[in-house]
Amino acid sequence: MHLRVFLWLFTLFSSTRAVTVYGVLGTQSLTTAPLPFATNVPTTTTSFVTTHGPARFTALAAYNDIYLPPPPIPSPAPPTAFSISVPQSASNINGLSILQAGSFFGFSIEMSVAIQLIGSNSTRLFVPFLNLMALLVERGGAVHVRVGGNTQETAFMVDSFPDGKIMEKDKEDATNPTSTPVLAYTVDLLYMLGNVSSLVNVKWYLGIPFNDTNWRLQIAEFGEEILGDNLLGFQAGNEPDLYGVHNHRKLDYGPWDYFGEFGLLTGTYGNDAKITRKKSLIAPSTEGGTWKDPLNPNNAPQGPEAVWNTGFVQQYDEFLSALAVERYPNNNCADLFPSPNTQPLDLLLQMAPYLKHSSSVNLLQTYLNSTMLAQTWQKPFLMFETNTASCGGFPGVSDAFATALWGVDYGLQLANSNFTGAMFHAGGQNVTYNPFTGSPLAAPTNESSFHQWTVGPIFYSSLVVAEALGTTNTSRVKDLLPNGGNDYTPAYAIYENDALARMVLINFLDDPSGANDYTATISVGGQQFGEANAMPTQVTVKYLLAPSVSEKDNITWAGQTLGGRFQADGRLIGTESIQTVPCHTSANICQITVPAPGVALVFVSAPAQQAAADAGGASTYPTTVQTKHANTVTVDPAVVATSNGNSGKDRDAHPGGTSQGGANGARGLRLEWGVFAVWLVVPLVEFVGVLW
Ligand SMILES: *[C@@H]1O[C@H](CO)[C@@H](O)[C@H](O)[C@H]1NC(C)=O
Ligand SMILES: *[C@@H]1O[C@H](CO)[C@@H](O)[C@H](O)[C@H]1NC(C)=O
Ligand SMILES: *[C@@H]1O[C@H](CO)[C@@H](O)[C@H](O)[C@H]1NC(C)=O
Ligand SMILES: *[C@@H]1O[C@H](CO)[C@@H](O)[C@H](O)[C@H]1NC(C)=O
Ligand SMILES: *[C@@H]1O[C@H](CO)[C@@H](O)[C@H](O)[C@H]1NC(C)=O
Ligand SMILES: *[C@@H]1O[C@H](CO)[C@@H](O)[C@H](O)[C@H]1NC(C)=O
Repeated sequence: MHLRVFLWLFTLFSSTRAVTVYGVLGTQSLTTAPLPFATNVPTTTTSFVTTHGPARFTALAAYNDIYLPPPPIPSPAPPTAFSISVPQSASNINGLSILQAGSFFGFSIEMSVAIQLIGSNSTRLFVPFLNLMALLVERGGAVHVRVGGNTQETAFMVDSFPDGKIMEKDKEDATNPTSTPVLAYTVDLLYMLGNVSSLVNVKWYLGIPFNDTNWRLQIAEFGEEILGDNLLGFQAGNEPDLYGVHNHRKLDYGPWDYFGEFGLLTGTYGNDAKITRKKSLIAPSTEGGTWKDPLNPNNAPQGPEAVWNTGFVQQYDEFLSALAVERYPNNNCADLFPSPNTQPLDLLLQMAPYLKHSSSVNLLQTYLNSTMLAQTWQKPFLMFETNTASCGGFPGVSDAFATALWGVDYGLQLANSNFTGAMFHAGGQNVTYNPFTGSPLAAPTNESSFHQWTVGPIFYSSLVVAEALGTTNTSRVKDLLPNGGNDYTPAYAIYENDALARMVLINFLDDPSGANDYTATISVGGQQFGEANAMPTQVTVKYLLAPSVSEKDNITWAGQTLGGRFQADGRLIGTESIQTVPCHTSANICQITVPAPGVALVFVSAPAQQAAADAGGASTYPTTVQTKHANTVTVDPAVVATSNGNSGKDRDAHPGGTSQGGANGARGLRLEWGVFAVWLVVPLVEFVGVLW
């Protein structure tokens, strides 16, 4: 039996105990086939045995208990002391990115799971979702969320459902190898998004179904009317380069076919009087290199150039508000859809690539020509859907701290590469890579009160990137490639208003002994740049930390956590800890230590240090995470809008408040536990589709 399969079966059947791959490895694999990680398998497994989560949920991928061994320290190990010198002024450094906003790192929510993650309808929004969004708004000013994905393609609007729900999976689309459900929804879905935006600054991307050239434009007609300025645009075509292989079109469906169908769409769209903003389409959202250059079809498959070379952008300029691609660095499809021709990937080999800077650099190389072209075309260029691996991700990787580190590096690399935004996908309870996952319980029994939301490691990446880019819309990013360009110790500089504001230092290694923590000696300005020495007397630092790259529950950002699996309500728990590091102004240096593993966000400029103290607050917000109600509480926006509260700090006694009262960590949002009617939500665990 393939080890991969064995691990899964082991997980499924060991319903009363936690699963540790270390143990399995030690007894099963080391004697047969030597694995790359073998040298690092610890002799004791106890520290990795999970303590959270009832085992009966482990069959759902989103809560799996698989722990993988961290990759070994490379040989030679990277130097643990090195210097980084940067100019203070943006005009003295080459190759800075275009201007980036703090909303850069957004989310993509599979349309069918919107009612598991956002709310059950326009009057019942999920508080954990609102809280999570508020954390990001506080740091980056806004959050951009795409609601769509494979399920948008077949979605159609209906007036209502007999059971009062706003969405139903109508039937299985048998022609689709990804088992994507056919989706019906009511207009209340759009009101739900509108009501979110009226509480917290979330802006939305939607998608026009592209499965049928009898265009169904209701989502655009009602989307524009209901969401107004909170609508960012409509994707038209989701991974059209995969339509052929997914049997949505003829097998050789190519760039010219898409060009033609897009023309049919713009014909109808252009003539639809209910749609007033015509320049709102986003395309081509191709997935990768399956399409060939239409000018040289005998050549090897290309990236987005295959589309550009049809003259697509010039032809549809008046309709295109942004260009987009979609890309996952890897896929786990052979595991999900077994076939005689495909061998599932060995899970034990999958973590290491996410802990290397070159993986993200190489992945995005394909797009650098396009992001430069997009600048000349004056179009935003979006990574519209991404995450660690499609077809559900890798258990033990996509849901482990390794992914939080990868997400920071990949997010900043996307910004450095002149993308203008990136949406990290949430696919529901059958996938491992979710930034956040709703309650796993189907029935509102009293047990449900103990099982709350699960926040994935990629959400922590979003906090770090939002805070690294800040709220001014003037941030420009530079990949510094320090330490001789070492793959395990990347760093970025962020210039804001043309001056160095922040730096991000990453340590991808996993070494609990501390021997591979590194110390970067930073210097700012100085003669070499024709500048005066510019190191301030002190800098402040926030750390993203966990005990190991394999960790799933105990992740902290600046000392605060959102809680382990089933423990999250969307508020940061604990007191924020911002380190102050004194610098040597005469020597013009400051020494920053970065643990292995970990990320340090260094606030250099005075405005950056001030913003860091304000965002999340040096002031503390007492959080009372409750084990009852919290996960399944939903909120009536009407109540919220009129509810008390100026800032998180001031909030205390409320009419009807319960013991769950107390301050809310999300200052931007005036939500209060306990003052609302408590609704026990029924999440859709009967969910059958596989949503990439
Ligand atoms: C929203 O859902 C709640 C609980 O499921 C229900 O009581 C309420 O009537 C619904 N509201 C609308 C507008 O459908
Ligand atoms: C909120 O939802 C209600 C329907 O429940 C709708 O009437 C209202 O327009 C929505 N508000 C926004 C801002 O979309
Ligand atoms: C960039 O893309 C354009 C348009 O497809 C193409 O003509 C050009 O050859 C590409 N350049 C590089 C360096 O790939
Ligand atoms: C990003 O765009 C800027 C401005 O055009 C350019 O100088 C820089 O080289 C680009 N970065 C990359 C990685 O292509
Ligand atoms: C809730 O839990 C208690 C014991 O803790 C049990 O007696 C009761 O039957 C459970 N179910 C409901 C629906 O209250
Ligand atoms: C940043 O850009 C967004 C979107 O254009 C805008 O709403 C916001 O006000 C801008 N923020 C600042 C500080 O200019």
